[in-house]
Amino acid sequence: MNLQELIARQRPGWSLEQPFYTSAEIYDLERKTWLARQWYVLGHSSEVRESGSFIVRDLLGESLIIVRGNDGTVRGFFNVCRHRGSRICDADGKAASLMCPYHAWTYRLDGTLRSAPALPEGIDTSQLGLRPAPVKEIGGVILGSLQGELESLEPVRQALEPALIYHGVPNARIAARRHYPTRGNWKLVMENFMECYHCFPAHPEYCSVMRHVDALGRVSSDGAARWQQTLEEWLRNQANPDSPIGNQQFNFTAPVQSYGATRAPIGGGCKTQTKDGEPAAPLMGEQSRFDGGVSTLRIDPFVYIAALNDYVRLFQFLPTGPETTDVVLTWLVDGEAREPDVDIEKLVWLWDVTTVQDKALIERNAAGIRSTAYSPGPYSTLESMPAQFVGRYLRELAL
Ligand code: FES
Ligand SMILES: [Fe+2]
Repeated sequence: MNLQELIARQRPGWSLEQPFYTSAEIYDLERKTWLARQWYVLGHSSEVRESGSFIVRDLLGESLIIVRGNDGTVRGFFNVCRHRGSRICDADGKAASLMCPYHAWTYRLDGTLRSAPALPEGIDTSQLGLRPAPVKEIGGVILGSLQGELESLEPVRQALEPALIYHGVPNARIAARRHYPTRGNWKLVMENFMECYHCFPAHPEYCSVMRHVDALGRVSSDGAARWQQTLEEWLRNQANPDSPIGNQQFNFTAPVQSYGATRAPIGGGCKTQTKDGEPAAPLMGEQSRFDGGVSTLRIDPFVYIAALNDYVRLFQFLPTGPETTDVVLTWLVDGEAREPDVDIEKLVWLWDVTTVQDKALIERNAAGIRSTAYSPGPYSTLESMPAQFVGRYLRELAL
């Protein structure tokens, strides 16, 4: 069956047929088309703080070098030498220029070729710079793509950067980073991340902290209305009034990606997302006090940032194969904050325990889908987000 036929016969509001979660052929196509156009979190500004600092990161099977130039701009390049194609850098580092270890071709930090020994006459070295990859630093977050258009990020930057600055993200430091390599197709990871239908059965810790689950994690006649009231009261009476997101929960739909930001209370008197609700680190950025809010900033589907009063969590969802996805969480705190004011185990607790649970759920989901007995099932009313996401994916993959 060809792919267009397969796409056309998927039933709206139902999960996908098995090949979308297992086929190497479909993954290979996604990797070169749909996935290549999306944006991903690749790192934090503190990882390339100075001119010449660079990091090496894999994205969809490509190796990228992300480097801060002498002009302060962060740029991305494919890690492929323009001489005969060698990898140039193996690990993060700092250098005045990037030298390929094979024959010592040397590139400036802006990617242009600086020296290539013993080339014959007549070779135009201005045409032999490193191939750029779309990479942009926005409010302390380094975003990257393989085929995304940098211009398409400009409205996203305008919308999200003030909130990232307000939350202190540009000057933050990394307090912790944990990897959760997950044996499951990237769509299973994203579908799981987008719904809270599984919160009550699977995430007791999350439910004990996040009070919106009471209202939205199960069907109840007045749940949504109750949560709306809680939200409005919090915005009116308790929320820091100077947040750039404020009560303007915004959501934009652009041709290439949809993006937005929201702000909501954790609830239950919690100041932050910790076991006892008390801070795990000092207040960040320009926030005047603890208001117990969580700001979420997103570029759908892969970029997701949660900003609490005292720490910020960057989520990375990196497809690595038809049935493997790397999930990486990075916890940021104020750049000046040091232990004992930063309690790392306390600040990683909620989303570490939740992500370990999610990894197990996704891997069980993937195992069941490999069976000949699997067939798509209906999304519940509490899974409208994955249902929409799958619909968008199918529409865009079909183009
Ligand atoms: S392959 Fe890089 S210098 Fe030869
Ligand atoms: Fe979950």
